[in-house]
Amino acid sequence: MTVLDMRFVPDPILRRQARKIGKVLPRMKKFIDDMIETMHAEMGVGLAANQVGSLQKVAVIQLPDWEEPLILINPEITRQEGEREVEEGCLSIPGYRGMVKRSVSVRARAIGLDGKIIRIKADGLLAQALEHETGHLKGQLYIDHLVTPDSLYKITHTAEDDSEAEDEAEATEANPPDDTGSSPDRPGSSLEDKAK
Ligand code: NI
Repeated sequence: MTVLDMRFVPDPILRRQARKIGKVLPRMKKFIDDMIETMHAEMGVGLAANQVGSLQKVAVIQLPDWEEPLILINPEITRQEGEREVEEGCLSIPGYRGMVKRSVSVRARAIGLDGKIIRIKADGLLAQALEHETGHLKGQLYIDHLVTPDSLYKITHTAEDDSEAEDEAEATEANPPDDTGSSPDRPGSSLEDKAK
C-alpha cells in the first residue's frame, strides 16, 4: 500500500465535484487501500478522493474506536435532521480548526467495494464525518459551514505541546516529589491522574 500525496487548500481539485462511479472495478481496490493507508498515516477520521488528487466519488471513514474503515462509493446524504455546532478540522486545511454547523443526525447511502448498497443512520461523530466527506465530493470544505466568519482559528501543535511541557515542569517544581509516602490529597495526585 502507498501513502498518497495530500492536496491542500487552495488546490482547485478540492473545489471540484467528484464523478459518480458507474461500476466498481477490481483496480479500485488498490486505490481505496491507498486512501485508507493515507488516512491512517495522516491520522484522519476520514478522507475523500479529491484530497489525494482523484475525482472518483469515493470516501473512507474510520472513527477512532473502529477496527475497520468504512468504504463509501458514490456516498449521498439522503436525510438531515436538526442542527448543532461542532468543532471540525480537515487534513487539507492543516493548522486550523473551526466551529461549524452540522446536522444532529443523518441518513446516508453508498455502495461498498462488493457493489452492494450500504445504508447508514448516524449521529455524533459519524454523522459529522459523513457530512464532511460527502461535502468534499461536492467540492465543499468545512470552512463553507462556519458558524460565523471568525469561527476559524489557528492551532499550533508544537506551541501547545511546549506549553504543556512547561506546565508540567512548573508543577513538578511546585510539588516536588516527596518520599514521605502517598498522602491521597497531595496536590500532585490530580496531575498524575491526568497523565494516564
Ligand atoms: Ni476534510
